[in-house]
Amino acid sequence: MQVLHGIAELRAALAQGPRPAFVPTMGNLHEGHLALVRQAKASGRPVVASIFVNRLQFGPHEDFDRYPRTLQADCAMLEAAGCDVVFAPDEAELYPEPQAFKVQPPSELADILEGHFRPGFFTGVCTVVLKLFNIVQPAAAYFGKKDYQQQLVIKALVRQMALPVEIVAGETCRAADGLALSSRNGYLSPAERAEAVELHRLLDSMARAVRDSGSDAHTLEREAMAALQRRGWQPDYVVVRRQADLLEPQSLQEPMVVLAAAKLGKTRLIDNVEI
Ligand code: PAJ
Repeated sequence: MQVLHGIAELRAALAQGPRPAFVPTMGNLHEGHLALVRQAKASGRPVVASIFVNRLQFGPHEDFDRYPRTLQADCAMLEAAGCDVVFAPDEAELYPEPQAFKVQPPSELADILEGHFRPGFFTGVCTVVLKLFNIVQPAAAYFGKKDYQQQLVIKALVRQMALPVEIVAGETCRAADGLALSSRNGYLSPAERAEAVELHRLLDSMARAVRDSGSDAHTLEREAMAALQRRGWQPDYVVVRRQADLLEPQSLQEPMVVLAAAKLGKTRLIDNVEI
């Protein structure tokens, strides 16, 4: 496995071969990232993974500075998962001048839910992903459903800009107790880690209530917000939405997804369950 830091050396390394399968990440890798790498590997294409903590997608009071940077351990895991090339640029390489051109995603999709609570987040994500696509020129790119809205925004970016890349969405990887794996789980104290699983339990029970009993979504949403607050969480949202565009469902026949974001102590967790 090659570990490359420069755009020019990456382009040179990829120039002769077939277009790769690409897994963009911010590092501090866990089984969720590695599952995407294995899925990419199964396509038969050479696999490129990127590791870059993208300042553009962090708000001024978010955790950019303390986001864990663990390049050596990440590379060992990537190699074991079958990755062929790691692209790990520093900021000066990816943003040698202020990134003044930005990709602004459509408001209907990107200013709701995560975009509402993290203004500019999806602009930062789309800008870096387009730039990485231009550098890596992948045939396919792999994104996790853990970040449900993100994979929808990226699919819309690719559609509307006619980018020649297939977007593949991978299932959410969870710990044995159900907690969705996340680099931010490392911020949790042992007591918070024990409590964190409640978010998934709640979403699971909401999904079942909608699917099996046709329960009213708005009532469930209100009850879930209150339940989280009682347990000491600060929820941003708990909602039942359509899988296709994250708008409110018009009927229970549509494919739906329950999505939530909530803070436990200082750590903001997100999760979702498809119905
Ligand atoms: P990061 O949070 O490192 O995640 C990289 C990829 O791994 C994303 O597609 C994310 O959805 C996926 N992922 C994370 N946890 C997962 C889990 N438990 N199960 C399955 N997939 C999981 O998402 C980003 O980085 C950035 O926004 C990025 C796209 C790299 C742009 O900077």
